[in-house]
Amino acid sequence: MTMTSSLIPSRNALTRATDLHAKASADFAAKLAQTQALLQRAAAEFAPVTQASSLGAEDVVITHLINSLQLDIPIFVLETGALHTETLALLERTQAHSRATINVFRPVSESVIQFVRDKGQDAMYQSIDLRKACCGIRKMAPLARALTGQRAWITGLRQEQSTARAEVPLLDTSEKDSKNLAKFNPLAKWTWGDVWHYIATNQVDYNPLHDQFFPSIGCAPCTRAISLGEDFRAGRWWWEDEAAKECGLHVKA
Ligand code: ADX
Ligand code: SF4
Repeated sequence: MTMTSSLIPSRNALTRATDLHAKASADFAAKLAQTQALLQRAAAEFAPVTQASSLGAEDVVITHLINSLQLDIPIFVLETGALHTETLALLERTQAHSRATINVFRPVSESVIQFVRDKGQDAMYQSIDLRKACCGIRKMAPLARALTGQRAWITGLRQEQSTARAEVPLLDTSEKDSKNLAKFNPLAKWTWGDVWHYIATNQVDYNPLHDQFFPSIGCAPCTRAISLGEDFRAGRWWWEDEAAKECGLHVKA
C-alpha cells in the first residue's frame, strides 16, 4: 500500500514548541542585555572559558548568542553514548554551522563496556547507586576532561527549572564541585517563555524532541515526555525521588 503524504507524520503536523511556549517577559529586553553583557564579560575576563551544551533549548540559545556576539568561547557537548538520535543529529548540524568550536567529549569506551558487562544496559533503573555509577562513567568523567585547564564554564541552568535550582546565580565564583571554576548561568533569570521567544524570533535550530513534550532532554533511557501539569523536570529519572534527580554535573560539594 502506498502511504499518501497526508498520512506521513511531518514536523509541520506537530505542535511546535515555539508556537506553544514563546512568550517574552515584560522585561525581556533588559534580561537579554544583561545576558549579553555577562557573556561578553566571561570572554573578556574569565578566559579560558567554555560553554557546556546538552543541545537543549537553553543551551542552543546561549550558543546562538556566543556566535552572534562573535565571542571566543568554545562549546563542549558530553556525548554519553546514550543520547537520542534527534540530539545526535542536532549535534552534527551545530558542528556544521557554529562559528565557535564545538568540542565533543565521550566516555572511555572500555569503562562503558565493563559497566554494561557487569551491571547490564538497564542498570540505571535498578538503584540510585547504579544510576549514579552510569552518570559517573558517561558524564562526570568526560566533564572532568572538558573542564581541565578552564577558568570558568557557562551553563543553561535557570532558576525556574526546579526548587533545587531556585537560587542559581548569574555568576557563581564560589563553586566547589567543579575544581573551583567560576560558573556562569547567563539564563538564570529567564523564563521558559523567554527561551522560546528568543528561539522563535532568531529562528534558532532546536531539538525536535521539544515538539514532542520533552522540555528537559538528557540521555534516552533516562528521559521521557511529560504530560500536561507535570513539572519541568518530571521526565528526567522519573522513577526516582525528586531529591535524587541530579546527575552530579551541578551538585555542590
Ligand atoms: S542535568 O544535570 O539534569 O543533566 P540539565 O539537563 O538540566 O542537567 O542541563 C543543565 C545544564 O547542564 C545544561 O544547560 C548544560 O549547561 C549542562 N549539560 C547537561 N547535559 C550536558 C551534556 N550532555 N553536555 C554538556 N553539558 C550538559
Ligand atoms: Fe547513564 Fe542515564 Fe546517567 Fe545517561 S542519564 S549517564 S544513561 S544513568
